[in-house]
Amino acid sequence: MKVAVVGGTGSFGSAVAKQLADAGFDVVIGSRDAERAREAAEPLGAEGATNEDAVRGVDLVLLAVKAEAAVDTARELAAAIGSTPVLSVAAELSFGPGGVKPTAEATSVAQRVQDVVQAPVVAGLHSLAAASLAGEPPDEDALVCGDDPDAKALALDLAARLVSGRAVDAGPLASARALEGMTAVIVNVNKRYKAHAGLRVTGLK
Ligand SMILES: NC(=O)c1ccc[n+]([C@@H]2O[C@H](COP(=O)([O-])OP(=O)(O)OC[C@H]3O[C@@H](n4cnc5c(N)ncnc54)[C@H](OP(=O)(O)O)[C@@H]3O)[C@@H](O)[C@H]2O)c1
Repeated sequence: MKVAVVGGTGSFGSAVAKQLADAGFDVVIGSRDAERAREAAEPLGAEGATNEDAVRGVDLVLLAVKAEAAVDTARELAAAIGSTPVLSVAAELSFGPGGVKPTAEATSVAQRVQDVVQAPVVAGLHSLAAASLAGEPPDEDALVCGDDPDAKALALDLAARLVSGRAVDAGPLASARALEGMTAVIVNVNKRYKAHAGLRVTGLK
């Protein structure tokens, strides 16, 4: 599978890209700046390109730009992405004195990304921290949701390479609101317990 990591110069995109490259995926790192992309890609043995060039001719687009830029970036890349499935990992968070909260947006980032691209959008990996992806696969599950079965199968295949737990199908794209919101819960737990918390879904066969 060939995966474009848009925003793959960032902490999360580069951590996922390294794991995927190590697992034998073809990876192309995307950036707004081609040179920055090549610098990030070189140690991984991956390709680097502008975001627009990166998403052409791949099997899956991992949208890993800063959360606040995800929808605008998807809109700008919509023509280049075409019908290639998009995996949105973004969770918009609001930081305040009482703790971390999801933003007040009525719909998830992933659903808003779906509004601006023709391609099927799936959402997932929100509960995996970039820091946890630095070494051995973390002992946690990776949840993915989406409406398109083929796109979701691709994303679940990718997710399974990142964790030692399961890649879990969390239902339709509407579940992204809950998955993105869960990121705030995990950040608060990490702060409270000085931990690197992840998620495990129990009761699955
Ligand atoms: N960090 C985590 O542990 C974690 C865990 C799960 C999910 N996520 C999600 O993963 C995504 C990336 O997180 P991150 O921590 O890696 O973010 P980040 O380092 O802040 O940003 C990632 C990349 O986004 C690009 N970017 C920044 N501003 C942009 C803009 N205005 N327009 C277009 N691109 C822009 C930059 O790439 P260029 O400058 O090279 O273009 C940057 O390297 C977020 O959506 C986040 O919610 C993060």
